[in-house]
Amino acid sequence: MLLANITPLKVLLMTASCSLAISRRARLRAVTADLHDSIDSEISRTGLMTTRDGYVAYLNATLAARAKIEALLDASGAAEVYAPWSRISAALRQDVADLGEKPSFGDPGAPAPTPLGVAGIWGALYVLEGSAMGARLLLRRAAGLGFTGQFGARHLAQQTSGLPWWRHFVSALDEAPMTALQETACLDSAIATFACFDRAYASMNDRQT
Ligand code: HEM
Repeated sequence: MLLANITPLKVLLMTASCSLAISRRARLRAVTADLHDSIDSEISRTGLMTTRDGYVAYLNATLAARAKIEALLDASGAAEVYAPWSRISAALRQDVADLGEKPSFGDPGAPAPTPLGVAGIWGALYVLEGSAMGARLLLRRAAGLGFTGQFGARHLAQQTSGLPWWRHFVSALDEAPMTALQETACLDSAIATFACFDRAYASMNDRQT
């Protein structure tokens, strides 16, 4: 994934947002679309969710990135910015334990400077909260391997049960006051957060092949 491709798009969107009132969520979605596609292909192209070992690798990579970002958000005071944000690291750890495994993962690298400011928190939360949108699909794939909300796929079940909150989150995100500098920090943080997941899944695939 070429991060260099993102910058011109970001500049274009920042310019367009002034005249066309594009929502913050739409801008976040646009600047991170390539990274989302890259992650989707890293998880899907190798058939990771079609074997037990592949699924364990997926759990470990997701836990590596998620635990890191959740800790960063806690350290940055995310609950004061958006109280109901959802942590799924505990459910991921339990999923790994259900399968009789121990967490095994490398460090996916620093997602962003620590601690995040308010705008950076919104950008990172967009990625974490939005990841629930694909969870229903992933839960179906996990069910094909025999994993459920009670065993092995607890984190996906937790995410799908929170889906009604997505609209609530997007309203809060779009309404949060931000200066032009903060808008940029918000986009940068979302890109850095997605990149952290992208690296985790890429290194997982490297170790699988
Ligand atoms: C194979 C893995 C994945 C699949 C198949 C997938 C699939 C999807 C789907 C179907 C949507 C809804 C699109 C829509 O209704 O418009 C979505 C949205 C989203 N996903 Fe994923 N996803 C995956 C992994 C991830 C991961 C790992 C993350 C981040 C950690 C993520 C972050 C997001 C975000 C932020 C959105 C919201 C985009 C928006 O603003 O509408 N996804 N995903």
